[in-house]
Amino acid sequence: MKLVIINGPNLNLLGKREPEIYGGTTFEAYFGALKQRFPRVELEYFQSNIEGEIIDKIQEVGFDCDGIVLNAAAYTHTSVGIGDAIKAIEAPVVEVHISNTHKREEFRHVSYISPVAKGVILGFGLQGYDLAIISFMHL
Ligand code: DQA
Repeated sequence: MKLVIINGPNLNLLGKREPEIYGGTTFEAYFGALKQRFPRVELEYFQSNIEGEIIDKIQEVGFDCDGIVLNAAAYTHTSVGIGDAIKAIEAPVVEVHISNTHKREEFRHVSYISPVAKGVILGFGLQGYDLAIISFMHL
């Protein structure tokens, strides 16, 4: 099984960005441990701060992987383009957020991803990515 994790803007700063909300671990460190926990899953990781690059990546992998785990970060709340890209591809997308966006500012309650996602996982910290991968497994 091949899954692609796509992270959006500012998630390259995990570990030093608002650690009281997002924790003190870098995504690179977390991703290394994640790969060890799921040795049978082929995992790819991509991060960009640029909306168009995220859309390009969704189009690139969306027809030849088994699923995408997407944290579109701030673009979640604004991007019709990312929502349309998800509609255009074949691979199912699970939306992940590290924080519980519904407990935060009102503008974070809106998602252009949720209506086109297979499912949504939020508020469980980085563990949400583990949960998203498990969701693709046939139990
Ligand atoms: C986030 C929540 C978004 O509202 C925010 O813009 C982020 C991170 C999360 O993982 O909790 O950058 O997607």
